[in-house]
Amino acid sequence: MKTATPRVYRNYYRQRTANQWHKIQAEVGDPGAIRPFLAGNWKMNMIPLSGVALAARIFDSCRDIKDVDIGLGPPYTGLSTLADYIKPDFLRTEYGIGRNVFLLAQDTFFESKGAFTGEISPEMLASIGVDRVIVGHSDRRANLGKYFGFWSSVSRRLSKSFLTHELDHLKSKKGADIQVLKALEHLTAEGNQDVLEGIAKFLEEELKERAGESDEAIQRKVQASLSKGLQVILCCGENREARDMHETFTLLDRQLRMGLEGVSQRTAAEVIIAYEPIWAIGEGAQAAGLEQITEVHDFIRNLIMDMYGEQTASSIRILYGGNVKPDNIVDIMNIAGVDGALVGGASIKAEDFSQIIKFGLIASA
Ligand code: PGA
Repeated sequence: MKTATPRVYRNYYRQRTANQWHKIQAEVGDPGAIRPFLAGNWKMNMIPLSGVALAARIFDSCRDIKDVDIGLGPPYTGLSTLADYIKPDFLRTEYGIGRNVFLLAQDTFFESKGAFTGEISPEMLASIGVDRVIVGHSDRRANLGKYFGFWSSVSRRLSKSFLTHELDHLKSKKGADIQVLKALEHLTAEGNQDVLEGIAKFLEEELKERAGESDEAIQRKVQASLSKGLQVILCCGENREARDMHETFTLLDRQLRMGLEGVSQRTAAEVIIAYEPIWAIGEGAQAAGLEQITEVHDFIRNLIMDMYGEQTASSIRILYGGNVKPDNIVDIMNIAGVDGALVGGASIKAEDFSQIIKFGLIASA
C-alpha cells in the first residue's frame, strides 16, 4: 500500500491563545505543520473508467499543486482502477503533483474475513492501495433506515395477531423471560389495538430517520481500519432536530468519544475528523454558516485536547463537509479551526473540485 509520507512542504501550525486556535505560517518541515486536505466523496457515482477520466481532468487543472492533500473517494468498484492510475511517479512526471494524492474508500467493515456477504474489510482495501477510509458518514449513520425497511418488520411484530401468537409460543417454552411475557400479555389485552398502531407508527418514523450504523459499529470500524494501517476520516454531525433542540454538542461529544474509544494518542495521529452537519448536506441544502462552523470546530478541537492533549489537538485535521462549493471554500478555509473539506456533489465535477482544491490552497496561504 502507498504510505502517506508526512513530508511537509510549506504549511501551517496552530497556536492556542485564549481558547482560540490560529493558523500561523510555519517554515518548511516544521513538525507542527498541518497540510490542508480537500477530500472528494464520490458516493455512488462513477464507473471505474469515468472515475479515471474525472481524476485526469482534476489533475490537469491542478498541475504542480503540492501544498495541499487531495483525496479521491470512488465507490468500491472504482478503487482498483484509480489506484493503478494515481501512482506517484506517474503523477509527478505527468502533472507535477507529488505524493499528495490519497485514495479514499467510502466505508469498510470491521471483520477481516468470513461470512459477511457484500462487505469489504480494511485488509482488502489496504491491499489495493487505499490510503484513507471514511467511517461514520451520515449517509450510513442516519439514512439507511429509509432504504432498508427495518420498520416493516417492527410494524408487523406490533400487530395483535402476531403478539398473541408469540405469547402462546412463549408460554409453552421453559425459561421464557417473565418481563417479556408480562409485556406481551399487557399488549394483547383487549382494547390495545390503537396503542399498538400508535407505537408502530412512532417506531416507523424513528427507524426511517435513524436506523443506520451505530456508534459501536463505527468504533469497531475505526479500530479495524487503524490496525491495518489505513488512516481514518471519522465523520460526525448533528441532524436538524438535534440542532434545533440545542443538542449539537452533546451529540458530537458522544459520537466522537465513542468513535475514538480505544484509539491511543499515538494512533490518533492517523485520524482526521470531518464535521458534517446532516442538515447542510446534499442538493437543496445550504452549507452551515461560518459562525456555526467556527463554533463546532473549536468545540471538537477542545474535545480532542481533553482526550489526547495539546499536541494531538494542534495537529489533528478537522474538515468541514456539507455543500462545500467553489464559491464558499475560501471563506470556509479561512476559519482558523478548519483544515480542509469533505466534498460530496462538487467533487464529481472536475471544474468545481479543481477550484475547491486551488481555492483551499490559496485561502490558507
Ligand atoms: P455535499 O456532501 O458536498 O454534496 O453536501 C457532503 C458529504 O456528504 O460528504
